Amino acid sequence: MKNKRIQAKWNEKLIMDKGAPGRRAHIPMQLDIPSVEVPDKYKRISPAKLPEVSELELVRHVVRLSQMNHGVDVGEYPLGSCTMKYNPKVNERIARFEQFTELHPDTPDQFMQGSIQVIYELQEAIKKITGFTGVTVQPVAGAQGEYVGMLIAQAYHNERKDNKRTTVLVPDSAHGTNPASAAMAGYKVIELPSTSEGFVDLEVLEAALDDTVAAFMITNPNTLGLFEPNILKISELVHKAGALMYLDGANFNGIIGMVTATSMGFDIMHLNLHKTFSSPHGGGGPGSGPVGVVDKLVKYLPSPMAVYDKEKDHYSFDFDLPHSIGRLHGYYGNFAVNLRSLAYIYRNGGEGLKKVCEAAVLNANYLMEKVREIKGFTVPKSEKVPRKHEFIASPYRMMQETGISANDIAKAMLDYGVHSPTIYFPLIVHEAMMFEPTEGETRTNLDHMVLALKEISDLAYEDPDAVHRMPLLTGSSRLDEFSLAKNPVLSKKSKK
Ligand SMILES: Cc1ncc(COP(=O)(O)O)c(C=O)c1O
Repeated sequence: MKNKRIQAKWNEKLIMDKGAPGRRAHIPMQLDIPSVEVPDKYKRISPAKLPEVSELELVRHVVRLSQMNHGVDVGEYPLGSCTMKYNPKVNERIARFEQFTELHPDTPDQFMQGSIQVIYELQEAIKKITGFTGVTVQPVAGAQGEYVGMLIAQAYHNERKDNKRTTVLVPDSAHGTNPASAAMAGYKVIELPSTSEGFVDLEVLEAALDDTVAAFMITNPNTLGLFEPNILKISELVHKAGALMYLDGANFNGIIGMVTATSMGFDIMHLNLHKTFSSPHGGGGPGSGPVGVVDKLVKYLPSPMAVYDKEKDHYSFDFDLPHSIGRLHGYYGNFAVNLRSLAYIYRNGGEGLKKVCEAAVLNANYLMEKVREIKGFTVPKSEKVPRKHEFIASPYRMMQETGISANDIAKAMLDYGVHSPTIYFPLIVHEAMMFEPTEGETRTNLDHMVLALKEISDLAYEDPDAVHRMPLLTGSSRLDEFSLAKNPVLSKKSKK
């Protein structure tokens, strides 16, 4: 019990079942502008069914629910690939400055110089970090960045009348959104099996490269946390075949400040600002997936682009981009995410970002060495090779010997106040557990995670049934997953 953490357990009703008619948590201010009569046809026939609760009832409800939940502010959260890193609170404060939040995006340029400057300077900062000459910060997710990248590849080949290029090659260690984005853009996706060590198989790649290939899409470091050692050779082969090199740079935390995308031979890449640059991931967003491209592709970037006229000292949006793939999103992307990221980049500076990378890599490797010593765990694929920001451990042996699976371990970890790593991904490892501790965790916290895993492993070998029953100290314990899938109850009849 010493190392465990107890979560609050509130018997909390639904908000609709609380309160009483007439109670209000907030009374809007009187309008100080003339009211407008809404035509009858647009008016509601009956009042909206909203909860009627006092402010205290509302606040306590939300606080109690948060206490029955796990978050990065509560405990460790080593969710590989979906990076839940600690993001400095100061950036949250900056993102809430009302000079930004109260500004309507249709405001004329001259009255939103500061906001356009933020977008422009982020474009410039990402150019420096990645080496590219053109950057858009409009895509609102990593996957949307990938989609943009694929549309740019298409525009490039089409303009050259190179219309045979209808396929995209993707290694099987890629993140799942890569093939999905290529397919959405209309490409046929060919999955390339990796070597047994988890790297790109050069012979397989060479055999697949021909004049029908539009792009090679690679996640580097890949989902095993491995940096591709043959990346320069791969770029050479891909370019020789007339195809483009696409980098899924969502794992940039593992290499930031150490190498640029262009020095590895990439033509297009996206970043996940919500993994690397100070915005929490998870829960479906909001995110930001800027895309960088080399010179020859700049003209295809989405419209509009933020530009700066040095002579007039004036920021504006350039919509006059005849070769652009067009607009992807209302207005200019997820502005608040972009603002947090710029604040993060400026506060760290180039040297600081390098340190972020070093600490993230050190933490991942420290944890990996400790986890591999725990009975029942292995670190498959390139066992001896150090990882970048994340690694995959597999309790496959433990499952064979005790029946305890990655899923059981993930649930049991919650009794220690540690969120599960990402499990069962990537698919190329049995019982994969993908750990990404991030640069934010201290050694004490890493040791706590190791201790949790060690105690769970000990219990698995002594009394597996006890592990099957965990978690016992959380707000709610194991759900009946079978009934949830087969007989889901998706609504609750409220008293009102
Ligand atoms: C390596 C990698 N690529 C792409 C994505 C897709 O990003 P998003 O979830 O923002 O669409 C992720 C998600 O975290 C990722 O980890």
